[in-house]
Amino acid sequence: MTQQARAWLTGARSVCVLTGAGISAESGVPTFRGAGGLWREYRAEDLATPAAFRRDPKLVWEWYDWRRGLVRAARPNAGHEALAEFERRRPEGFTLVTQNVDGLHERAGSLRVHRLHGSLWIVRCTGCGNESWDERVPLPGLPPRCDACGGMLRPGVVWFGEVLPEDALDAAVAAASVCEVMVVAGTSAVVYPAAALVPLAKRAGARVIEVNVEETPASGLADVSLRGASGTVLPLILL
Ligand code: OAD
Repeated sequence: MTQQARAWLTGARSVCVLTGAGISAESGVPTFRGAGGLWREYRAEDLATPAAFRRDPKLVWEWYDWRRGLVRAARPNAGHEALAEFERRRPEGFTLVTQNVDGLHERAGSLRVHRLHGSLWIVRCTGCGNESWDERVPLPGLPPRCDACGGMLRPGVVWFGEVLPEDALDAAVAAASVCEVMVVAGTSAVVYPAAALVPLAKRAGARVIEVNVEETPASGLADVSLRGASGTVLPLILL
């Protein structure tokens, strides 16, 4: 099955890859769901919402500050690196779409990453709307404050119920609609609209290759399901 996936990827004129938290698991960044998905006693769905932030901004920031610390200490793994190398070898006809906010694709050398859910390193003022890149770990004082107006800052990520950045979503939909092969790696494929990219590609005629340690709702759509860690499987099929 690995050989089949590899052959499809080699022959395809356009490839779209959708990644999720599982691709960073081998870098030591916990996924949201499944084993190790909890932070204290909270689930991601209880913290990553505008309502949770209104209720307890300090708690939500503590979670993000913790994740920022983990990610800062982490390094990209062989899965991220294989994707960066794939892009270097064939910059045309390749689109990388990620739900991850950790920036590990970029640190591995991926040049064009369409981030559907924002970034852990962006902070946005809830008062004046000012957005900036902030890599301080830990942040001095939680919740952090805006230098410009003193308003409360929020993480520059997309929360449940919020709209995705239009440019990233448009690029993702466009790529999914025309790709000959879609690789879906390390995502539970339960969070929309990202998960809808898989049936979209499938309907448009793409071959779908899933890389995951477990079965997911996307498995039923996959032409090939490769059960294994993305750090092992992606180099085998991409390089
Ligand atoms: P999840 O935590 O929901 O799913 C992680 C997936 O990775 C699971 O299907 C695991 O089986 C798989 N996995 C774990 N380790 C793996 C490995 N080494 N190799 C391959 N697969 C592995 O993460 P996402 O699908 O990314 O949204 O979650 C989607 C969104 O939900 C996130 O972007 C985040 C979250 O709430 C926001 O923050 C808006």
